Amino acid sequence: MRMVDLIEKKAAGEALSRQELQFFIDGFCAGEIPDYQVTALLMAIFLKDMTPQETAELTDIMAHSGGMIDLSAIDGVKVDKHSTGGIGDKTTLVVAPLVAACGGKVAKMSGRALGACGGTIDKLESIPGFQVALGEDDFVRSVNELGLSVISQTADVAPADKKIYALRDVTATIASTPLIASSVMSKKLASGADRFVLEVTVGSGAFVRDVEGAKALAETMAEIGRRNGKPTVALITNMDRPLGRKIGNLLEVQEAAAVLRGEGPKDVEEVCLLLAAEMLYMGEKGSREECKEKAEQALRSGAAYEKFLAFLTNQGGKTDVLEYPEKYYPAPRCVTVAAERDGYLNTVNAEEIGKASMMMGAGRATKEDAIDVTAGVELCAAVGEAVKQGQPLFKAYAQDEKKLNAGLAILKENIVVSPEKPEEQPHIYGRVGGLD
Ligand code: URA
Repeated sequence: MRMVDLIEKKAAGEALSRQELQFFIDGFCAGEIPDYQVTALLMAIFLKDMTPQETAELTDIMAHSGGMIDLSAIDGVKVDKHSTGGIGDKTTLVVAPLVAACGGKVAKMSGRALGACGGTIDKLESIPGFQVALGEDDFVRSVNELGLSVISQTADVAPADKKIYALRDVTATIASTPLIASSVMSKKLASGADRFVLEVTVGSGAFVRDVEGAKALAETMAEIGRRNGKPTVALITNMDRPLGRKIGNLLEVQEAAAVLRGEGPKDVEEVCLLLAAEMLYMGEKGSREECKEKAEQALRSGAAYEKFLAFLTNQGGKTDVLEYPEKYYPAPRCVTVAAERDGYLNTVNAEEIGKASMMMGAGRATKEDAIDVTAGVELCAAVGEAVKQGQPLFKAYAQDEKKLNAGLAILKENIVVSPEKPEEQPHIYGRVGGLD
C-alpha cells in the first residue's frame, strides 16, 4: 500500500477502506509516513469529507493507537464530558463539582490550551499546588470517595490524535466534521467512560460557525458513540460571544467559583446547569426534569461550591488563591477601557478576544510557550447591557507591557459599544442524541 494512492483516492472523493485508514494511522504513528503526505491527506478529507462508516472507522483506529483506560474500578455509570472548545469556556470547572454534588461520578481527563481556546488543565494549574497528574490509584480513589477527579490526559491516550491535531492546527484543517469528530471521540473512547455528554460550540469563537454545521458534527459524534455501545448526547451551545465575562486561566477559575456560589454570569450558569442535568440523566440519576432540579438545588444550597473546594484541596490546590491571588502571583498590570459613548456592550468576534487574551500571555502559540495564569480579559458588563459614556467597558490584565498593548489593540476593535441593542441570542441551540 502507498500513501500517495490514498491521497489520490480521497482527492477524487472516494471512501478509504478500513485497511487503508489503518495503514495511514499506523504509518504516521510509527514515523514512517512524513508530515507532508499526512497534510495532503488531511486537506483532501477537509475538502471531500468522509462517509459515516469511514469516520467511525478512523475514530476506532485512532482510539486504539495507544492504551485504552480501564475505569471498571469506579462504581456506577461513568459519564464523561467534552467541549469542542471556545473562548471563556469554563464549563468543566462548574459542571464536574455540580454533578459530583448530586451523586454522579466524574472521572475526567482534560487537555491544555493551544491557540485561542483555553484548556481545563491550564486553568486548574493556575491554582498553586494543584496536581494534574495523579497516579491511576489516586485517580480512581478520588472518584470513588469524592465523586470527581480531573487529571491531565496522558500521552498514551489516542496518541494518533495528538500528532494529527498538531498538523491540523498549522495547516487550516481543523474545521472539518470528520476530523473534529474522530479527534474528540477517539479520546473519549480511549478514556474509558460508559457514556458521553458533549458540548458542541458554534459561532465566531468556535471551530464550527453555523448551527447546521454544529448539528451535523453533533450527529456524527452521537452516531460514533452509538456504534461503540456508548450512548452520547450533545448540546449545541452559543460561542458567538465569549462564555461569561472572564477569559484567562485564573480569571476563569474565579468566575467558575462565583457561578458555583450562585453569583456568576447567567449565561455560564444556564449552560452549566443543563450540561450537569444531561450528565446526571445519562448517569441514570432520574428523569431529565429531576436531574435539572437536583443540579439547581446543588447550586443553590452551596453543596456544589463545597464540592469544588474539596476537589481542589484533594488534588493539592491552595483554594485561598481564589480570593487572594496576590499571595501567590505578582499583581498583573491592569488597564480599564471605558465606553466612549452611550450604547450597548457588544462583542464583534469572540475568536479575536481569545487571540488577544492569548497574546497577553493567557495561552500559548506553540506547545513550548509558558502560560501567564494572571493574564486575560474581563468584560465589565454582559453583552447587550446598556452602558454610559465613561463607564468601564472591559479590563485587560498582563504581566508584560508589550503583550498588554498588543492585546489591547485587538480588544478595542472587538469589544465595542453599539448604538443599537445587539440581537438576543440563545445560549443553547438544541440537543442531539441521547440514551435511545
Ligand atoms: N476539540 C478536539 O478535541 N478536537 C478537535 O478537532 C476540535 C476540538
